[in-house]
Amino acid sequence: MMAHPLFRPRRLREKALVRKLVRETTLAADDLIYPAFVVDGRAVREPIGSMPGQFHLSIDELVKEAKDIAGMGIPGLLLFGLPAEKDPRGSEAWADDGIVQRAVRAVKDTVPDLLVITDVCLCEYTSHGHCGVVEDGTVKNDPTLELLARVAVSHVEAGADLVAPSDMMDGRVAAIREALDDANYAETPIMAYSAKYASVFYGPFREAADSAPQFGDRRGYQMDPANAVEALREIALDVDEGADIVMVKPALPYLDVISRAKAEFGLPLAAYSVSGEYAMIKAAGRLGWLDEERAMMETMISIRRAGADIVITYFARDIARLLEQNRHLR
Ligand code: PBG
Repeated sequence: MMAHPLFRPRRLREKALVRKLVRETTLAADDLIYPAFVVDGRAVREPIGSMPGQFHLSIDELVKEAKDIAGMGIPGLLLFGLPAEKDPRGSEAWADDGIVQRAVRAVKDTVPDLLVITDVCLCEYTSHGHCGVVEDGTVKNDPTLELLARVAVSHVEAGADLVAPSDMMDGRVAAIREALDDANYAETPIMAYSAKYASVFYGPFREAADSAPQFGDRRGYQMDPANAVEALREIALDVDEGADIVMVKPALPYLDVISRAKAEFGLPLAAYSVSGEYAMIKAAGRLGWLDEERAMMETMISIRRAGADIVITYFARDIARLLEQNRHLR
């Protein structure tokens, strides 16, 4: 007869240092990318209502932020631009003096050891708010590819270290890869938003980036939240087309997709913990319904545990600060 269980898992749980020793998943500033929204003007630091703690930054303020982030050991910034003018084709998206192109130059000039990643899409720049060329009330795939390729090349010309297409047009990774290679940027990696779902959790971002579609929705090009097998197919296509890093987005409602993608491909995998995921934790924290810090850390470790190598999150600064203080061990 056994007086006690053979294995007592609690032996490894009692002391914080033992827990640390046997912990399976880690989270470090090294794993994080911080998204930022850049606008025209000077000394602009305008709070974004639906994303407490996030701001619209003019280029001078963005540069300060970039220095801070690099100092915290966060490897990269993901840049989104809000143009002064929008038009049906979104032409500021590839303008040499566009908001993102100027921002990239400024950051690379002053903080050279921070990666600048650019979101390649048209929705912030088009008057109709869709991610591609609109004809007869629908978003046309193939005419959009050439514009996206132009956007990507213009970002890399300005100094972007990586480009991240988020539009979900078919064939855009191949189009961008070819255009970059032709422009002599064969060394520049593509981080593809491969499995990007048509998600309600982008709501706060669309306010922040002023990119809500003016008619219809994005379900004609972004993925159906019900599908996981299709996500693997999307990722396989992007890998074939030359993606170097693939992404699942959003993160928390799609942990199963992250897990399957990591198991299946073994490629560097990013997960984008989107604006709505951030807003939920912030809101519950403000109401006193959740401990915001702990909710943030548990969420982030879950995304890493599911298999994400890289986590794109608006919490990046808070996480880096907390890790620095080692308070997560308490
Ligand atoms: C642009 C883009 C979006 C996000 C990243 N790139 C919005 C969208 O597709 O509507 C969402 C990011 C977030 O919610 O944090 N296509």
